Amino acid sequence: MSFPHHRPRRLRTTPAMRRLTAEYRLAPADLILPAFIREGLSEPNPIASMPGVVQHTTDTLKRAAAEAVELGVGGIMLFGIPETRDAEGTASLDPDGVLNKAIRDVRAEVGDSLVVMSDVCLDEFTDHGHCGVLDSDGYVDNDATLEIYAKMAVAQADAGAHVLGPSGMMDGQIGVIRQALEGAGHVNTAVVAYAAKYASAFYGPFREAVDSQLKGDRRTYQMDAANRREAIQEVELDLAEGADMVMVKPAMSYLDILADVAGMSPVPVAAYQISGEYAMIEAAAANGWIDRRAAITESVLGIRRAGANMVLTYWASEIAGWLKES
Ligand code: PBG
Repeated sequence: MSFPHHRPRRLRTTPAMRRLTAEYRLAPADLILPAFIREGLSEPNPIASMPGVVQHTTDTLKRAAAEAVELGVGGIMLFGIPETRDAEGTASLDPDGVLNKAIRDVRAEVGDSLVVMSDVCLDEFTDHGHCGVLDSDGYVDNDATLEIYAKMAVAQADAGAHVLGPSGMMDGQIGVIRQALEGAGHVNTAVVAYAAKYASAFYGPFREAVDSQLKGDRRTYQMDAANRREAIQEVELDLAEGADMVMVKPAMSYLDILADVAGMSPVPVAAYQISGEYAMIEAAAANGWIDRRAAITESVLGIRRAGANMVLTYWASEIAGWLKES
């Protein structure tokens, strides 16, 4: 029998030993809570495919943000659902539009004690549901969209966002947004680039969450699930354009991408555990097929282990609450 025969198992003998030798652990500060606010609601509206997640009113959003602060959560990522939509997503530029107002309200509630992030994308604001404006062939027009993103970014920074999250996967979006922010004097507004964002079937529940009008798909602008190398190119371009942080999205089916990006990125790396990942675990747990809390913890730990410094997850506050208990 060789000498180190029982070596790995010795470190698993007690909970205290496992805790001491754990290579990774979850902390509330590494978690970011994505949150939806819908214009014109008087009561929060449950999202059927995301049990436990709602479209917020101003009041309940402020409460969720305050609770996140209380729990030590690192950040909140805001998405707005407007009452009126048009082909250009004009409502996104209104300083009193749903998202810009929500940023202001949340900042008034939390100040600097929570990093307030906001989605810079047109899909919630267009009547066709695409992330940009369309040309006469119905193709998403990259450069015409960039002009609107630049204005959206300034409006969101004016409203008080600490970090902007451009999620539309237009080429050049980070550079255009950085330049617009500098031009408007918002030198300290950071940008988290959705650098490697894949066209994914797992966004399904999000489309319900934002009442998406999308008929087709986003395959002409989001990445193809078949590609790994290309993620590095996307990250390098975004870094060259001034990204302060980079994101991989979705998380669980893309842990190899996350590990690649974590291995080369000189800036913090985020991963987004998206709506479909949330829905799958909730559905299996509701059926009694998996242990809900254990599965949630394992899934987020796996994302951290693959290399994410921070994780966007709809369970952010709940996990933070568990961490506080233990
Ligand atoms: C686009 C956007 C999407 C998500 C975040 N930002 C949807 C999409 O690209 O179709 C998905 C998030 C999730 O599924 O949880 N603004």
